Amino acid sequence: MKRARAVAHSNIALIKYWGKRTETDPELNLPAVGSLSMTLDELRTDTQVAPAPRDRFVLDGKAYEGDAPEASKVFAHLDRVWASAHDSERPGCEVTSTNHLPTAAGLASSASGFAALTLASAAAFELDHGDVELSALARRGSGSAARSLWGGFVRLDAGNEADGSDCVARPLLPASHWDLRLLVVHAAKGPKSVGSTEGMERSRTTSPYYQAWVDTSPADLDAAEVALAERNLLALGQLMEHSCFKMHACMMASRPPLVYWRGTTLDVMHALWQARAEGLEGYATSDAGPHVKVLCEAKDAPALAERLGAVPGVTKLQSVAVGPDASVQVDEAAANP
Ligand code: PMV
Repeated sequence: MKRARAVAHSNIALIKYWGKRTETDPELNLPAVGSLSMTLDELRTDTQVAPAPRDRFVLDGKAYEGDAPEASKVFAHLDRVWASAHDSERPGCEVTSTNHLPTAAGLASSASGFAALTLASAAAFELDHGDVELSALARRGSGSAARSLWGGFVRLDAGNEADGSDCVARPLLPASHWDLRLLVVHAAKGPKSVGSTEGMERSRTTSPYYQAWVDTSPADLDAAEVALAERNLLALGQLMEHSCFKMHACMMASRPPLVYWRGTTLDVMHALWQARAEGLEGYATSDAGPHVKVLCEAKDAPALAERLGAVPGVTKLQSVAVGPDASVQVDEAAANP
């Protein structure tokens, strides 16, 4: 085993994933719908995996022991990556991660986190998996993580095969395709209330809108891919808002309801629509959290940021460009402990 370090950028789904396939092995973590994302510059996770006498996980300088939920998810993922190529017992690892984004607040920390962990651990374990296999491993940690291996714009297909072999992510277009910005408008502080896995299961089992959500998603995905290729912001933006509102309607109609938004979330959306009516083009999306993410052309980002940043209750606003591929480095000098 070697010491390896990976950086993976977070991503935001323009066409959303919500819900898992249930007829297959839950460990495969197969999404019920495909998704299309933009990789984010700046918002990223940096993870090092090194040989150690026993497992240890340090996140943003804080150490977690084996039975803490944060640590057990990480060690279970190391087990998966190791087992993808070995029958033997996995060596002990020290995992050190730094999140350059808020953890578990609907800002896709799990996407960059599991992508970086997959890449760093596969390199540390000296596995020779290709990108598609690595992305499938990342997906088993978190669905959105499958998309964080690549920069630019990425599509993840749900697939039909029971073994998940056709559920693969692929880069559609590089960051240089379109100079877009995503304004991340923070509408509240603190972690999200219900995690995505629990929320998805609640929606699947109780929301009367769940099946409609699943059935109507593929058309949005294909249309968004065309709009993206044509750099048609109006078409892409409308599809993106539609996908977001359908997902949140499905969440809200769950029992008990899943309401991730706060008052400020809606105030930001209304301010955005007012700006749009006045000629400033931007489109909203939002994940399992209160923040609003606004897609716009780079030239419109400063004016939109000024307007949305002034909405009462907004705690922070970041303007983020389209991000690069994930990267990994192996420290050839590091020996076993
Ligand atoms: O990958 P997870 O389990 O964090 O779920 C992601 C779900 C959404 O962020 C709401 C949508 C998406 O496609 O990223």
